[in-house]
Amino acid sequence: MSAPRIAVIGGDGIGPEVIEQAIRVADAACDVALDWHRLPWSSMYYLRTGHIIPEDGWEQLRTFDAILLGAVGQPGVPDTVTVHGLLLPMRRKFDLYVNLRPAYLFDGVQSPLRDKAAGSIDMLVYRENTEGEYAPVGGRLYPGTPYETALHTAVFTRRGCERIMRAAFEGARKRKKRVTSITKSNAQGFTLGLWDEVFTTVAKEYLDIEARSLLVDAAAMDFVRKPEVFDVIVASNLFGDILTDLSAIVTGSVGLAASANINPERTFPSMFEPVHGSAPDIAGKGIANPLAAILSVKLMLDHLGQTKPAAAIQGAVAAVLKAGKVRTPDLGGTATTTQMADAVLAALR
Ligand code: NAD
Ligand code: IPM
Ligand code: MN
Repeated sequence: MSAPRIAVIGGDGIGPEVIEQAIRVADAACDVALDWHRLPWSSMYYLRTGHIIPEDGWEQLRTFDAILLGAVGQPGVPDTVTVHGLLLPMRRKFDLYVNLRPAYLFDGVQSPLRDKAAGSIDMLVYRENTEGEYAPVGGRLYPGTPYETALHTAVFTRRGCERIMRAAFEGARKRKKRVTSITKSNAQGFTLGLWDEVFTTVAKEYLDIEARSLLVDAAAMDFVRKPEVFDVIVASNLFGDILTDLSAIVTGSVGLAASANINPERTFPSMFEPVHGSAPDIAGKGIANPLAAILSVKLMLDHLGQTKPAAAIQGAVAAVLKAGKVRTPDLGGTATTTQMADAVLAALR
C-alpha cells in the first residue's frame, strides 16, 4: 500500500509536545511508511501572519488521508481565532459527525474513585460533533447598553440525531450491546425532545441492543457513582464534551483520553486528537502525558486499516501502565513526556 499521507497540526501549548511523541510511536509500530506533513497552523502562526490557517488551507487539508491534531488555544489569543477559526470549523467542514471518545480504566492506573478494578470502567462515548449547542448561530443585540442581549441557538436536526445514534448502535453491536442516550428533555423540550424521539425510533431498528435514556444531570452522578454500568453512550455536542472530561478523570487522567473525529462516509479526512487541550499551565515543561496523543494515533491507524500496529500500540500502552514504573505527574509519577513515550517504544519491541 502507498504511504498514508497525514497532516499534522501540533497547534499550541502541549499540543506539539505530545504529538511528536505519538509520531515516534506510530513510526515504530508500522511496517508501512507514514508520510507526515507538519503544518505550522497555531496561535504563534496567527500572531506572525494574521491568520491561523492560510487561504487555501482547507483545500490543502482535504487532500490528506487523515489529520493528527494536538490542541489549539493560547492565553492572549481569542477563541474566535483558535477554536472558531480552526478546530470547530474543521469538524463541520469535513462533516466529522462522529466524535468517538473511549474511556477505559487500565490495569495499574489509580482511579480517583474507590475500589475500581482494572477494566471495570469501559465506556465509549459517541458525541455529536457538527451541530447541537455548538452551532454558530446567535448574536448580540444592543451591545454596550443596559439592554445588551445575547442569543445562542442550539440546532438539532432529525438527520443529525439519526446519524450519530445509528453510529452508536452499530458501535454497541461490537461491544456489550448497551446504549445510553443522554438528554435533558425535561428542561429543553424542543431540541432534546426531538433528540429523544429520534432515539426511540432508531432504537427500534436495533432490537438486539439494550437502549435507555438518561438525563444529563443524573448521568454526571452515575459517571461517578457507578461508571461500570455504561457501555456505549450517545450525547449531543455539549453534553458529550462535558461528560468526556468526566469519563477521562474517572479512568485516571485526561492525559489518557483519546478521541477520533470521524467522517464515516470517507468523503473527507478524519481527524484524531487527544480530548485534552493545550494545557498552558504545564506547556513547555516537558511533563505532559503523551499517552492520550499516542492512543489517538492508535485510533487513526485503525481508521486507516492498520489494525495490527494499532493493536500493538494499545498493548504497549497497557503494558507500560501496568508495570507502573514510568508515570508522568498526572498519574502520580515524575517521568517526562519523552520518558513516557520511550517506555511505550521499549514495550513495542
Ligand atoms: P486542558 O485540557 O488544556 O487542561 C486541563 C487540565 O488538565 C490542566 O491542569 C492541564 O495541565 C491538565 N492536562 C491536560 N492535558 C494533560 C496531559 N496530556 N498531561 C497532563 N496533564 C494534562 O483544558 P483547559 O485548561 O480548559 O484549556 C486550555 C486551552 O486548550 C483553552 O484555550 C481551550 O480552549 C483549549 N482546548 C483545546 C482543545 C483542542 O484543541 N482539542 C481541547 C480542549 C481545550
Ligand atoms: C474538546 C474541546 C473543544 C470542544 C473546545 C476547545 C471547543 O473542549 O475537544 O473537548 O468543546 O469540543
Ligand atoms: Mn472538551
